[in-house]
Amino acid sequence: MSLCEETLPLKSSTDPQWVDVVLADLDHFLLDHAACERKASALAMSMVVKYPDREALLEPMICLAKEELAHFHEVFLIISKRKLQFVPDEKDLYLNKLLKYVRHGREDHFLDRLLISSIVEARGCERFSLLGRAITDDQWLSDFYLRLGREEAGHYKIFHRIAKHYFPTIVVEERFSELLEIESDILNQLPMRPAVH
Ligand SMILES: [Fe+2]
Ligand SMILES: [Fe+2]
Repeated sequence: MSLCEETLPLKSSTDPQWVDVVLADLDHFLLDHAACERKASALAMSMVVKYPDREALLEPMICLAKEELAHFHEVFLIISKRKLQFVPDEKDLYLNKLLKYVRHGREDHFLDRLLISSIVEARGCERFSLLGRAITDDQWLSDFYLRLGREEAGHYKIFHRIAKHYFPTIVVEERFSELLEIESDILNQLPMRPAVH
């Protein structure tokens, strides 16, 4: 376990079999991973558009959008090298189920979006790190996923920090804990796929 995973707030660990499922169809995983990075970049920019008055999030979200776009570009290059064909996005059951727990009302909605984003980044850190360690026949790809794991840990902290900027710590931590339980339950109910979630 790397340092970044030790500090993750997740309530459950990914089933080690997930890595076997991914390695059995790495091409499918890469296509899904690319879509996740592209959507993460778009989500960060959507926060800038939706909350132009929340100054503390603007620059972090612009930087995050750029970093996620850089990740997308890197995965795109791997996909191109493997001569894979881009496919339309598949339904992201994990994210869709999580987003059902976003509450209504401007403030509650804002907090839940920040915390769910934080959790999704934390799960990305855990899974990319797992994958990086499991890839033994391609040192470059292994290092790539280990680095992404570290960078996703940074992303989880950005969303969490912004939440704590706008809401009292007790409110953030209570809701964070609830959503972490929900995320763990959702993940355990989903079928294992050669995909990020
Ligand atoms: Fe990323
Ligand atoms: Fe990220």
